[in-house]
Amino acid sequence: MNETMEALLERRSTRHYTEEPVSEEALAQILEAGLWAPTARNRQEVKIAVARDPEWRARFRAAFSAADGRPNFANFDFGCPVFLFLYGEKDFPYIEMDSGIVVENMAIAAQSLGLGTVIIGCIRDFLRSEAGAHWRADIGMTEEDLFTVGLCIGHIERPTKKQERKEGRVRYL
Ligand SMILES: Cc1cc2nc3c(=O)[nH]c(=O)nc-3n(C[C@H](O)[C@H](O)[C@H](O)COP(=O)(O)O)c2cc1C
Repeated sequence: MNETMEALLERRSTRHYTEEPVSEEALAQILEAGLWAPTARNRQEVKIAVARDPEWRARFRAAFSAADGRPNFANFDFGCPVFLFLYGEKDFPYIEMDSGIVVENMAIAAQSLGLGTVIIGCIRDFLRSEAGAHWRADIGMTEEDLFTVGLCIGHIERPTKKQERKEGRVRYL
C-alpha cells in the first residue's frame, strides 16, 4: 500500500491528547494543506480561525456546555492544544461541502506529521444560535458568516479503536 492510501485507511479520530504543544511549523503545514483544498467554483470562501489560548478555550467550553446542556459534551475538544473553527459566507451554497474537504485535507496533513485530529460538529448549533453571537464575534465571524465545522489537533496520547465501515455502500452500474 502506498503512503497516501495508508494515511487514508489508518487515520482515526483522536480523543485523547497529550499536553505537548503543536509546533508553529506543523500548524503552518496543516493550514497550508487546508488552504490548497479544492473549492467549488474556486471561490475559496472557507476561513479558518486558530484557537490556542487555554483561557479563552475554557470560557468557550463553559458557554457551550451551559447552552447545550449535555454534560458529556462539556469536553467537546478533548483538551487538544489547537482547535480550528471553519466558517465562511453563509449564502455560498457549497460552504459546508468545501469546509468538509478543507477539514479532511488538514486531518490527513496532521496525520502525516504524526499528529492526531478529530473533526468536531457538535458545537455547530451553539455557534449558529443567539447564544453563540458573542463567540462568533470573538472568532472573527461577521453576520454574513456561517460556522461549519471544527478540528481538534494535538499529539496522540492513546489511539482510538477502529470503527468498522458498513458494507454495501458502493454500487456498480
Ligand atoms: C462532520 C463530522 C462531525 C463530527 N463531529 C464529531 C463531534 O462533534 N465529536 C466527536 O467526538 N467526533 C466527531 N466526529 C468524528 C466521528 O465520530 C468519527 O469520524 C467516526 O466515528 C469514525 O471514526 P474514525 O474517524 O476514527 O474513523 C465528526 C466527524 C465528522 C465527519
